[in-house]
Amino acid sequence: MAQYERYEQRVLRREQAAQPLLLGIESSCDETCAAVIRGRELLSSAVRSSAAEQAKYGGVVPELASRAHTDAVEAVVKEALLQAGVRGGQLSAVAVTYGAGLLGALLVGLSFAKAYAFALGLPLIGVDHIRGHMAAAYLADTALEPPFVTLLASGGHTAVLYTKSYTEFEILGSTRDDAAGEAFDKVARILGLPYPGGPSVEKLAREGQPNIPLPKMFAGAGYDFSYSGLKTAVLNYCHNKEQRGEAYSRADVASSFQHAACSVLADRAVSAAKAKGCNTIAAGGGVIANGYLRALLGERCRAAGIRLVLPEKKFCTDNAAMIAAEGLVQYRAGNFAPLTLNACAHIPLGRKGKQ
Ligand code: KG4
Ligand code: ZN
Repeated sequence: MAQYERYEQRVLRREQAAQPLLLGIESSCDETCAAVIRGRELLSSAVRSSAAEQAKYGGVVPELASRAHTDAVEAVVKEALLQAGVRGGQLSAVAVTYGAGLLGALLVGLSFAKAYAFALGLPLIGVDHIRGHMAAAYLADTALEPPFVTLLASGGHTAVLYTKSYTEFEILGSTRDDAAGEAFDKVARILGLPYPGGPSVEKLAREGQPNIPLPKMFAGAGYDFSYSGLKTAVLNYCHNKEQRGEAYSRADVASSFQHAACSVLADRAVSAAKAKGCNTIAAGGGVIANGYLRALLGERCRAAGIRLVLPEKKFCTDNAAMIAAEGLVQYRAGNFAPLTLNACAHIPLGRKGKQ
C-alpha cells in the first residue's frame, strides 16, 4: 500500500511538472491580488482594490497602499485558493511580483509569498510586474506561442516588442518620455477628472467627438513613442480657451486625446508586425483595457490579416493571474528565486536573467 502511495505521488509530481499548479501574488500598486493557474488554465483570480480610498487624494498614497495590502493579503490568497478548490500543499510553486512598483507595497506581497513558500516547502518565483502584463496573453489564448509582436501600454511603459521566445524579447520601440497610461492620467488631471485617470478619460470621451486637431506624434520611421508633446498640447488648448474666456467641450478634448494616443499605438503595433513578418499581435498593460483602443486594434488587425490576442479587460489592469502566467514561464525555465529576494522599485524593460 505504502509502495502504491509513493507511486501515486510520483505520478502526481510528474503531472504537476507538466502542468504545474501555481499561486500568483501581486501587490505592486493599489491592488492586492492572488490567482491560481494549472498550466495555462486559470483556476481563480481574486482582487481587492484600495483605488476608491486613494481617489480621495487624487492618486496613490504609498503608505495607504501598503496598509491596505497588509489588511488584505491573507484573505485574498485564501479566496484565490478556495475559488480554485486547491490546498496550499498541492501547489507546485509560489510566484510573486518583486518589482517594479511601490517598495512598501511590494514588500507586503513578497514577504507573504516568501513565508508561505517557506512554510509549505515550495519553490519561490520572483516576477517582474511588466513581464506579467506581457504574459497575460498566454492565458487569454492558451494556444499562443512565440514568436509574435507584443504591444505593451501601461502606466510606466509603452513599447512594441518582438517576443522571440517565452523568455527572450527584443524592444522594437519604446516611449521617449511619458508612458501612454501616464499621459491618460495627466490629461485626466488637466480635465479635472478623478483617479484613476485612464477609465475617467475613456468615460468622458464617449460623450465627445475627436474633432480637436492635436499634434501627430512621431510621424517618422521606427516604433518609438512620445506622449509628452500630446499632453502639453492638451494643456495648452485648455489654458488658451480658459484665458480667452471661450467655452470648450471637455468631452471633445478627452475624445481627441484618446484618439491620438490610441491610434499611434495601433499603427506602431501593426507596422511592427508587418515588418517582422509576424501574423500575431498580443497586447498587455492597463491602457489595453481601453475600449476605444481595443476596437481600433481589432479593426487595424482585421484589415491587415493579423491575429490579435487581447486579454480580458480585468486581466489588462493589475491582477495576479498574469503574475502566475509569467511565473509559469520562469518555472519552466527553472528560474527560481532565493528567500533573500528583495523588492525592487525599478526594473529596466530589457533586463535579462535571474533575480
Ligand atoms: O498596466 P498598469 O497596471 O500600469 C503599470 O503596471 O505600470 O496600468 C495602469 C495604467 C494607468 O495609467 C491607468 O490610467 C491606465 O493604465 N488605464 C487606462 C484604462 N484603464 C487603466 N488607460 C486608458 N483607458 C483605460 N480604460
Ligand atoms: Zn500594472
